[in-house]
Amino acid sequence: MAALQTRVFRLLLILAAALLCWLPVAAAAQSPGPVSARSPDGRLEVTLASREMGRAAWSVKRDGRVVVSPSQLGILLTDQPKFDRDIDITNPRVTSVDSTWEQPWGERRFVRDRHTALNVTLQERGNARRRIEVEFRLFDDGVAFRYRFAPDGGWGRLNIADELTEISLAENGTAWWIPGGEWNRYEYLYNRTAISEVAQAHTPITMKLDSGLHVAIHEAALVNYSAMWLRRVSGQQFKAVLSPAPDGPKVVVDAPFSTPWRTVQIADDAAGLANSDMILNLNEPNVLGDVSWVRPGKYVGIWWGMHINRFTWSPGDRHGATDANTRAYIDFAAANGFSGVLVEGWNPGWEGDWYTGGSPFDFTRAYPDFDIEGLSAYARERGVRLVGHHETAANIANYEPQLEAAFSLYQRLGIDQVKTGYVGDFFGVRYTRPDGTIGFATHDGQRMVQHHLHVVRTAARHRIAINAHEPVKDTGLRRTYPNWIAREGARGMEYNAWGTPPNPPDHEPTLAFTRMLSGPMDFTPGIFDLARNDNGNRVKTTLAKQLALYVVLYSPIQMAADLPESYEANPAAFQFIKDVVTDWHESRVINGEVGEYITVARRDRNSETWFLGAITDQRARTLPVRLDFLESGRRYRAEIYADGPRADWDTNPSAIAISSRVVSGGQNLRLRLAPGGGQAIRFVPI
Ligand code: NOJ
Ligand code: CA
Repeated sequence: MAALQTRVFRLLLILAAALLCWLPVAAAAQSPGPVSARSPDGRLEVTLASREMGRAAWSVKRDGRVVVSPSQLGILLTDQPKFDRDIDITNPRVTSVDSTWEQPWGERRFVRDRHTALNVTLQERGNARRRIEVEFRLFDDGVAFRYRFAPDGGWGRLNIADELTEISLAENGTAWWIPGGEWNRYEYLYNRTAISEVAQAHTPITMKLDSGLHVAIHEAALVNYSAMWLRRVSGQQFKAVLSPAPDGPKVVVDAPFSTPWRTVQIADDAAGLANSDMILNLNEPNVLGDVSWVRPGKYVGIWWGMHINRFTWSPGDRHGATDANTRAYIDFAAANGFSGVLVEGWNPGWEGDWYTGGSPFDFTRAYPDFDIEGLSAYARERGVRLVGHHETAANIANYEPQLEAAFSLYQRLGIDQVKTGYVGDFFGVRYTRPDGTIGFATHDGQRMVQHHLHVVRTAARHRIAINAHEPVKDTGLRRTYPNWIAREGARGMEYNAWGTPPNPPDHEPTLAFTRMLSGPMDFTPGIFDLARNDNGNRVKTTLAKQLALYVVLYSPIQMAADLPESYEANPAAFQFIKDVVTDWHESRVINGEVGEYITVARRDRNSETWFLGAITDQRARTLPVRLDFLESGRRYRAEIYADGPRADWDTNPSAIAISSRVVSGGQNLRLRLAPGGGQAIRFVPI
């Protein structure tokens, strides 16, 4: 009996020991160590691993070489402990996607979405035991991830103080960036510095690493959240900083909630960045249904005249938005195939210092010398539409209550496109707090992100497309809301009228690989009068470069920005603006270096005609281009708008050589660009 008892006791001891050994194994099984996944082509690899103090870190390799070193994930809250330590990386799930979707308008009709999805759970240890899902998507040309907060992960209302997301680049190199959080919003000249000298930057920020690899960091699907800036912590280590809120937490949302995607595009060359569809692919499909009422096209407008001081926005001797003036612009548009006529300065509010937001605009009443009803009818009879304008002076407290009535008026008049504007210092957005008092918000914080989408949704109900100036940056939401047709969000043409300094010759080849990675820009090219204006400024490009910008800087709406008389004085060059289209079947960036030059070819969405645009910085250069985008062996009439023999943005900007020749698909061309010059070509199949 005693012997039996001893044997049972020993057995129990062995069982207890086995259990003790097994428990830590089970615990460790929850945290399976590094988790990785690869892009469809196998070249990019993302790894998630635990670091010291149980911090979760993500990293990226390309062809086995580290591009993003282990970088922290996490979130800072105002009313709970932060979420960034004592974390187990659990529950990895990998799936792959390969689908194609169609754009209602865009740089290309069909977009392929091929990626590997890796989802993991960040499980907190200890008392709180909160959980965040992290969703990664690996494309062949980049990596993206976002956080997802679910109620069963312990989340209710989220009061977010900031993100603890980091992006540490493994190598130094060159960065092109504009400062984040400064008074002039996104309207700065791009800095070109070492990556290790960036301060606080807006995104997209574009980098060329010392190894030659090109990287662009941005975000996708910015909805109900604050925009992300990047602050350099040390070396090449960056941290996400959310744009501030006027009061309290930077972001307040309720779970379930997904943050915007944090994106890292990776390519061998600059062209690879510009050819990527990753940002669009990360956005949700169209939620508006039939959007045939969103019409790409070209427009002219009562606009440049104000910027060069020929007209005024406010009433008086030089008022731009008069009946007579508008009729003349409508006639000009109708005669030359433009679909829209923008008229600024048509409504009360422009008197005095309108840009301080103090004299609120009226969006349903026109100045007495602007017969909005009659002019809309006059335009309609000629197959043209007025393009509406809502300058808010960043006073959304005044704008939001008028939105519904303002869009109803435009819809009734057949106006299907509205340019909005938010002139005012960053952090100077007047908004109404829930208690009715006025607060001041930033241009890209959560409140303005909500506002812009509210405007776009309200406009959609009235079948109106929105082109926002002084906007929040583009993050690809045009896929979900195809009536968000364009925006500004960088230094556009207006700076050549009055900017100090005006845009230098390297501005547009910089924009092409920075701002343009985020989406269409209403840059408003096409200034033909390249002489000094009344402000003492001038446009620092050649005439051919002005034409090339229509192809290089993508927008489904393109303005012919100059005064009609400037076009009437140069009908031969104007022919290109009349011929160029704004909606594409396919687009290809053929070559380029950030801030130096770029060549782009695009095929008309509705024909076999191709267009090419090439631009350079202040240096003259010859760019070899193989016409392999044209159908092989097929013959085309190439209508060439090149810089004249002695053209130079500084000394001889208007010299242009217009010629026509027959070329074949597959043939080689050499494009000669003058200092600050460009070249535009239309290829018509014979
Ligand atoms: C700034 C815009 O970018 C410009 O196009 C517009 O003319 C002025 N604001 C006035 O609204
Ligand atoms: Ca502007």
